[in-house]
Amino acid sequence: MCGIITIDGPSASGKTSVAQRVARRLGIPYISSGLLYRAIALACLRENLPPEAIEERLPHYRLELYPTQGENRVYLNGEEVSSALHSLEVDRWVSAVARHPGVRAFVNQVLRQIPPPFVVDGRDMGRAVFPEACHKFYLTASPEVRARRRMPERGAAFETVLAEINRRDEADRQQSAPAPDAIVLDTSALELEEVVEAVLQSLAASK
Ligand code: DC
Repeated sequence: MCGIITIDGPSASGKTSVAQRVARRLGIPYISSGLLYRAIALACLRENLPPEAIEERLPHYRLELYPTQGENRVYLNGEEVSSALHSLEVDRWVSAVARHPGVRAFVNQVLRQIPPPFVVDGRDMGRAVFPEACHKFYLTASPEVRARRRMPERGAAFETVLAEINRRDEADRQQSAPAPDAIVLDTSALELEEVVEAVLQSLAASK
């Protein structure tokens, strides 16, 4: 099997759950690239920095990501911040941080140091970060389906989560285009395990 499998898609498309399960079934590590953007957004929030000021702060940050087949542990300047990365506050801040080219280059450098094999999820993994990956997937689902999936994680009302998803789709549009050679899967009508099976079948078929 080739070493890098990319699973991209918009927020709450199920890419993280799918990537984790595919990695577990293949017995290889899973990496969430979004966590690195979230860690930088957290740093920005903690320091009360406007997103425009983030690039010049980057030399002060040391980011580490330790992949496992399930969770990822993320360290910011030596402090584990993994459990602080999924708040609505970080959700709101992260796109404004992630759009800066310096931030993207910083995150990509951390990602490219991780030795394959792995399954990685994100927005631009197949197109920009690992164009050499030999298996690329792009998951989509309607905003309403994604909002319903994300509600339990955020503990917020459907309308709040849907508005946040629509806002983030717009903000992330530029970095979220599928790689031209990605297999696009619309997961709106599929259960999680069905998506996992579709990915695994596609991997088996292209061996
Ligand atoms: O996948 P996620 O929701 O945890 O990602 C958080 C944010 O980070 C998302 O709003 C867009 C950004 N992101 C990105 O720009 N590029 C990636 N490869 C991954 C995430």
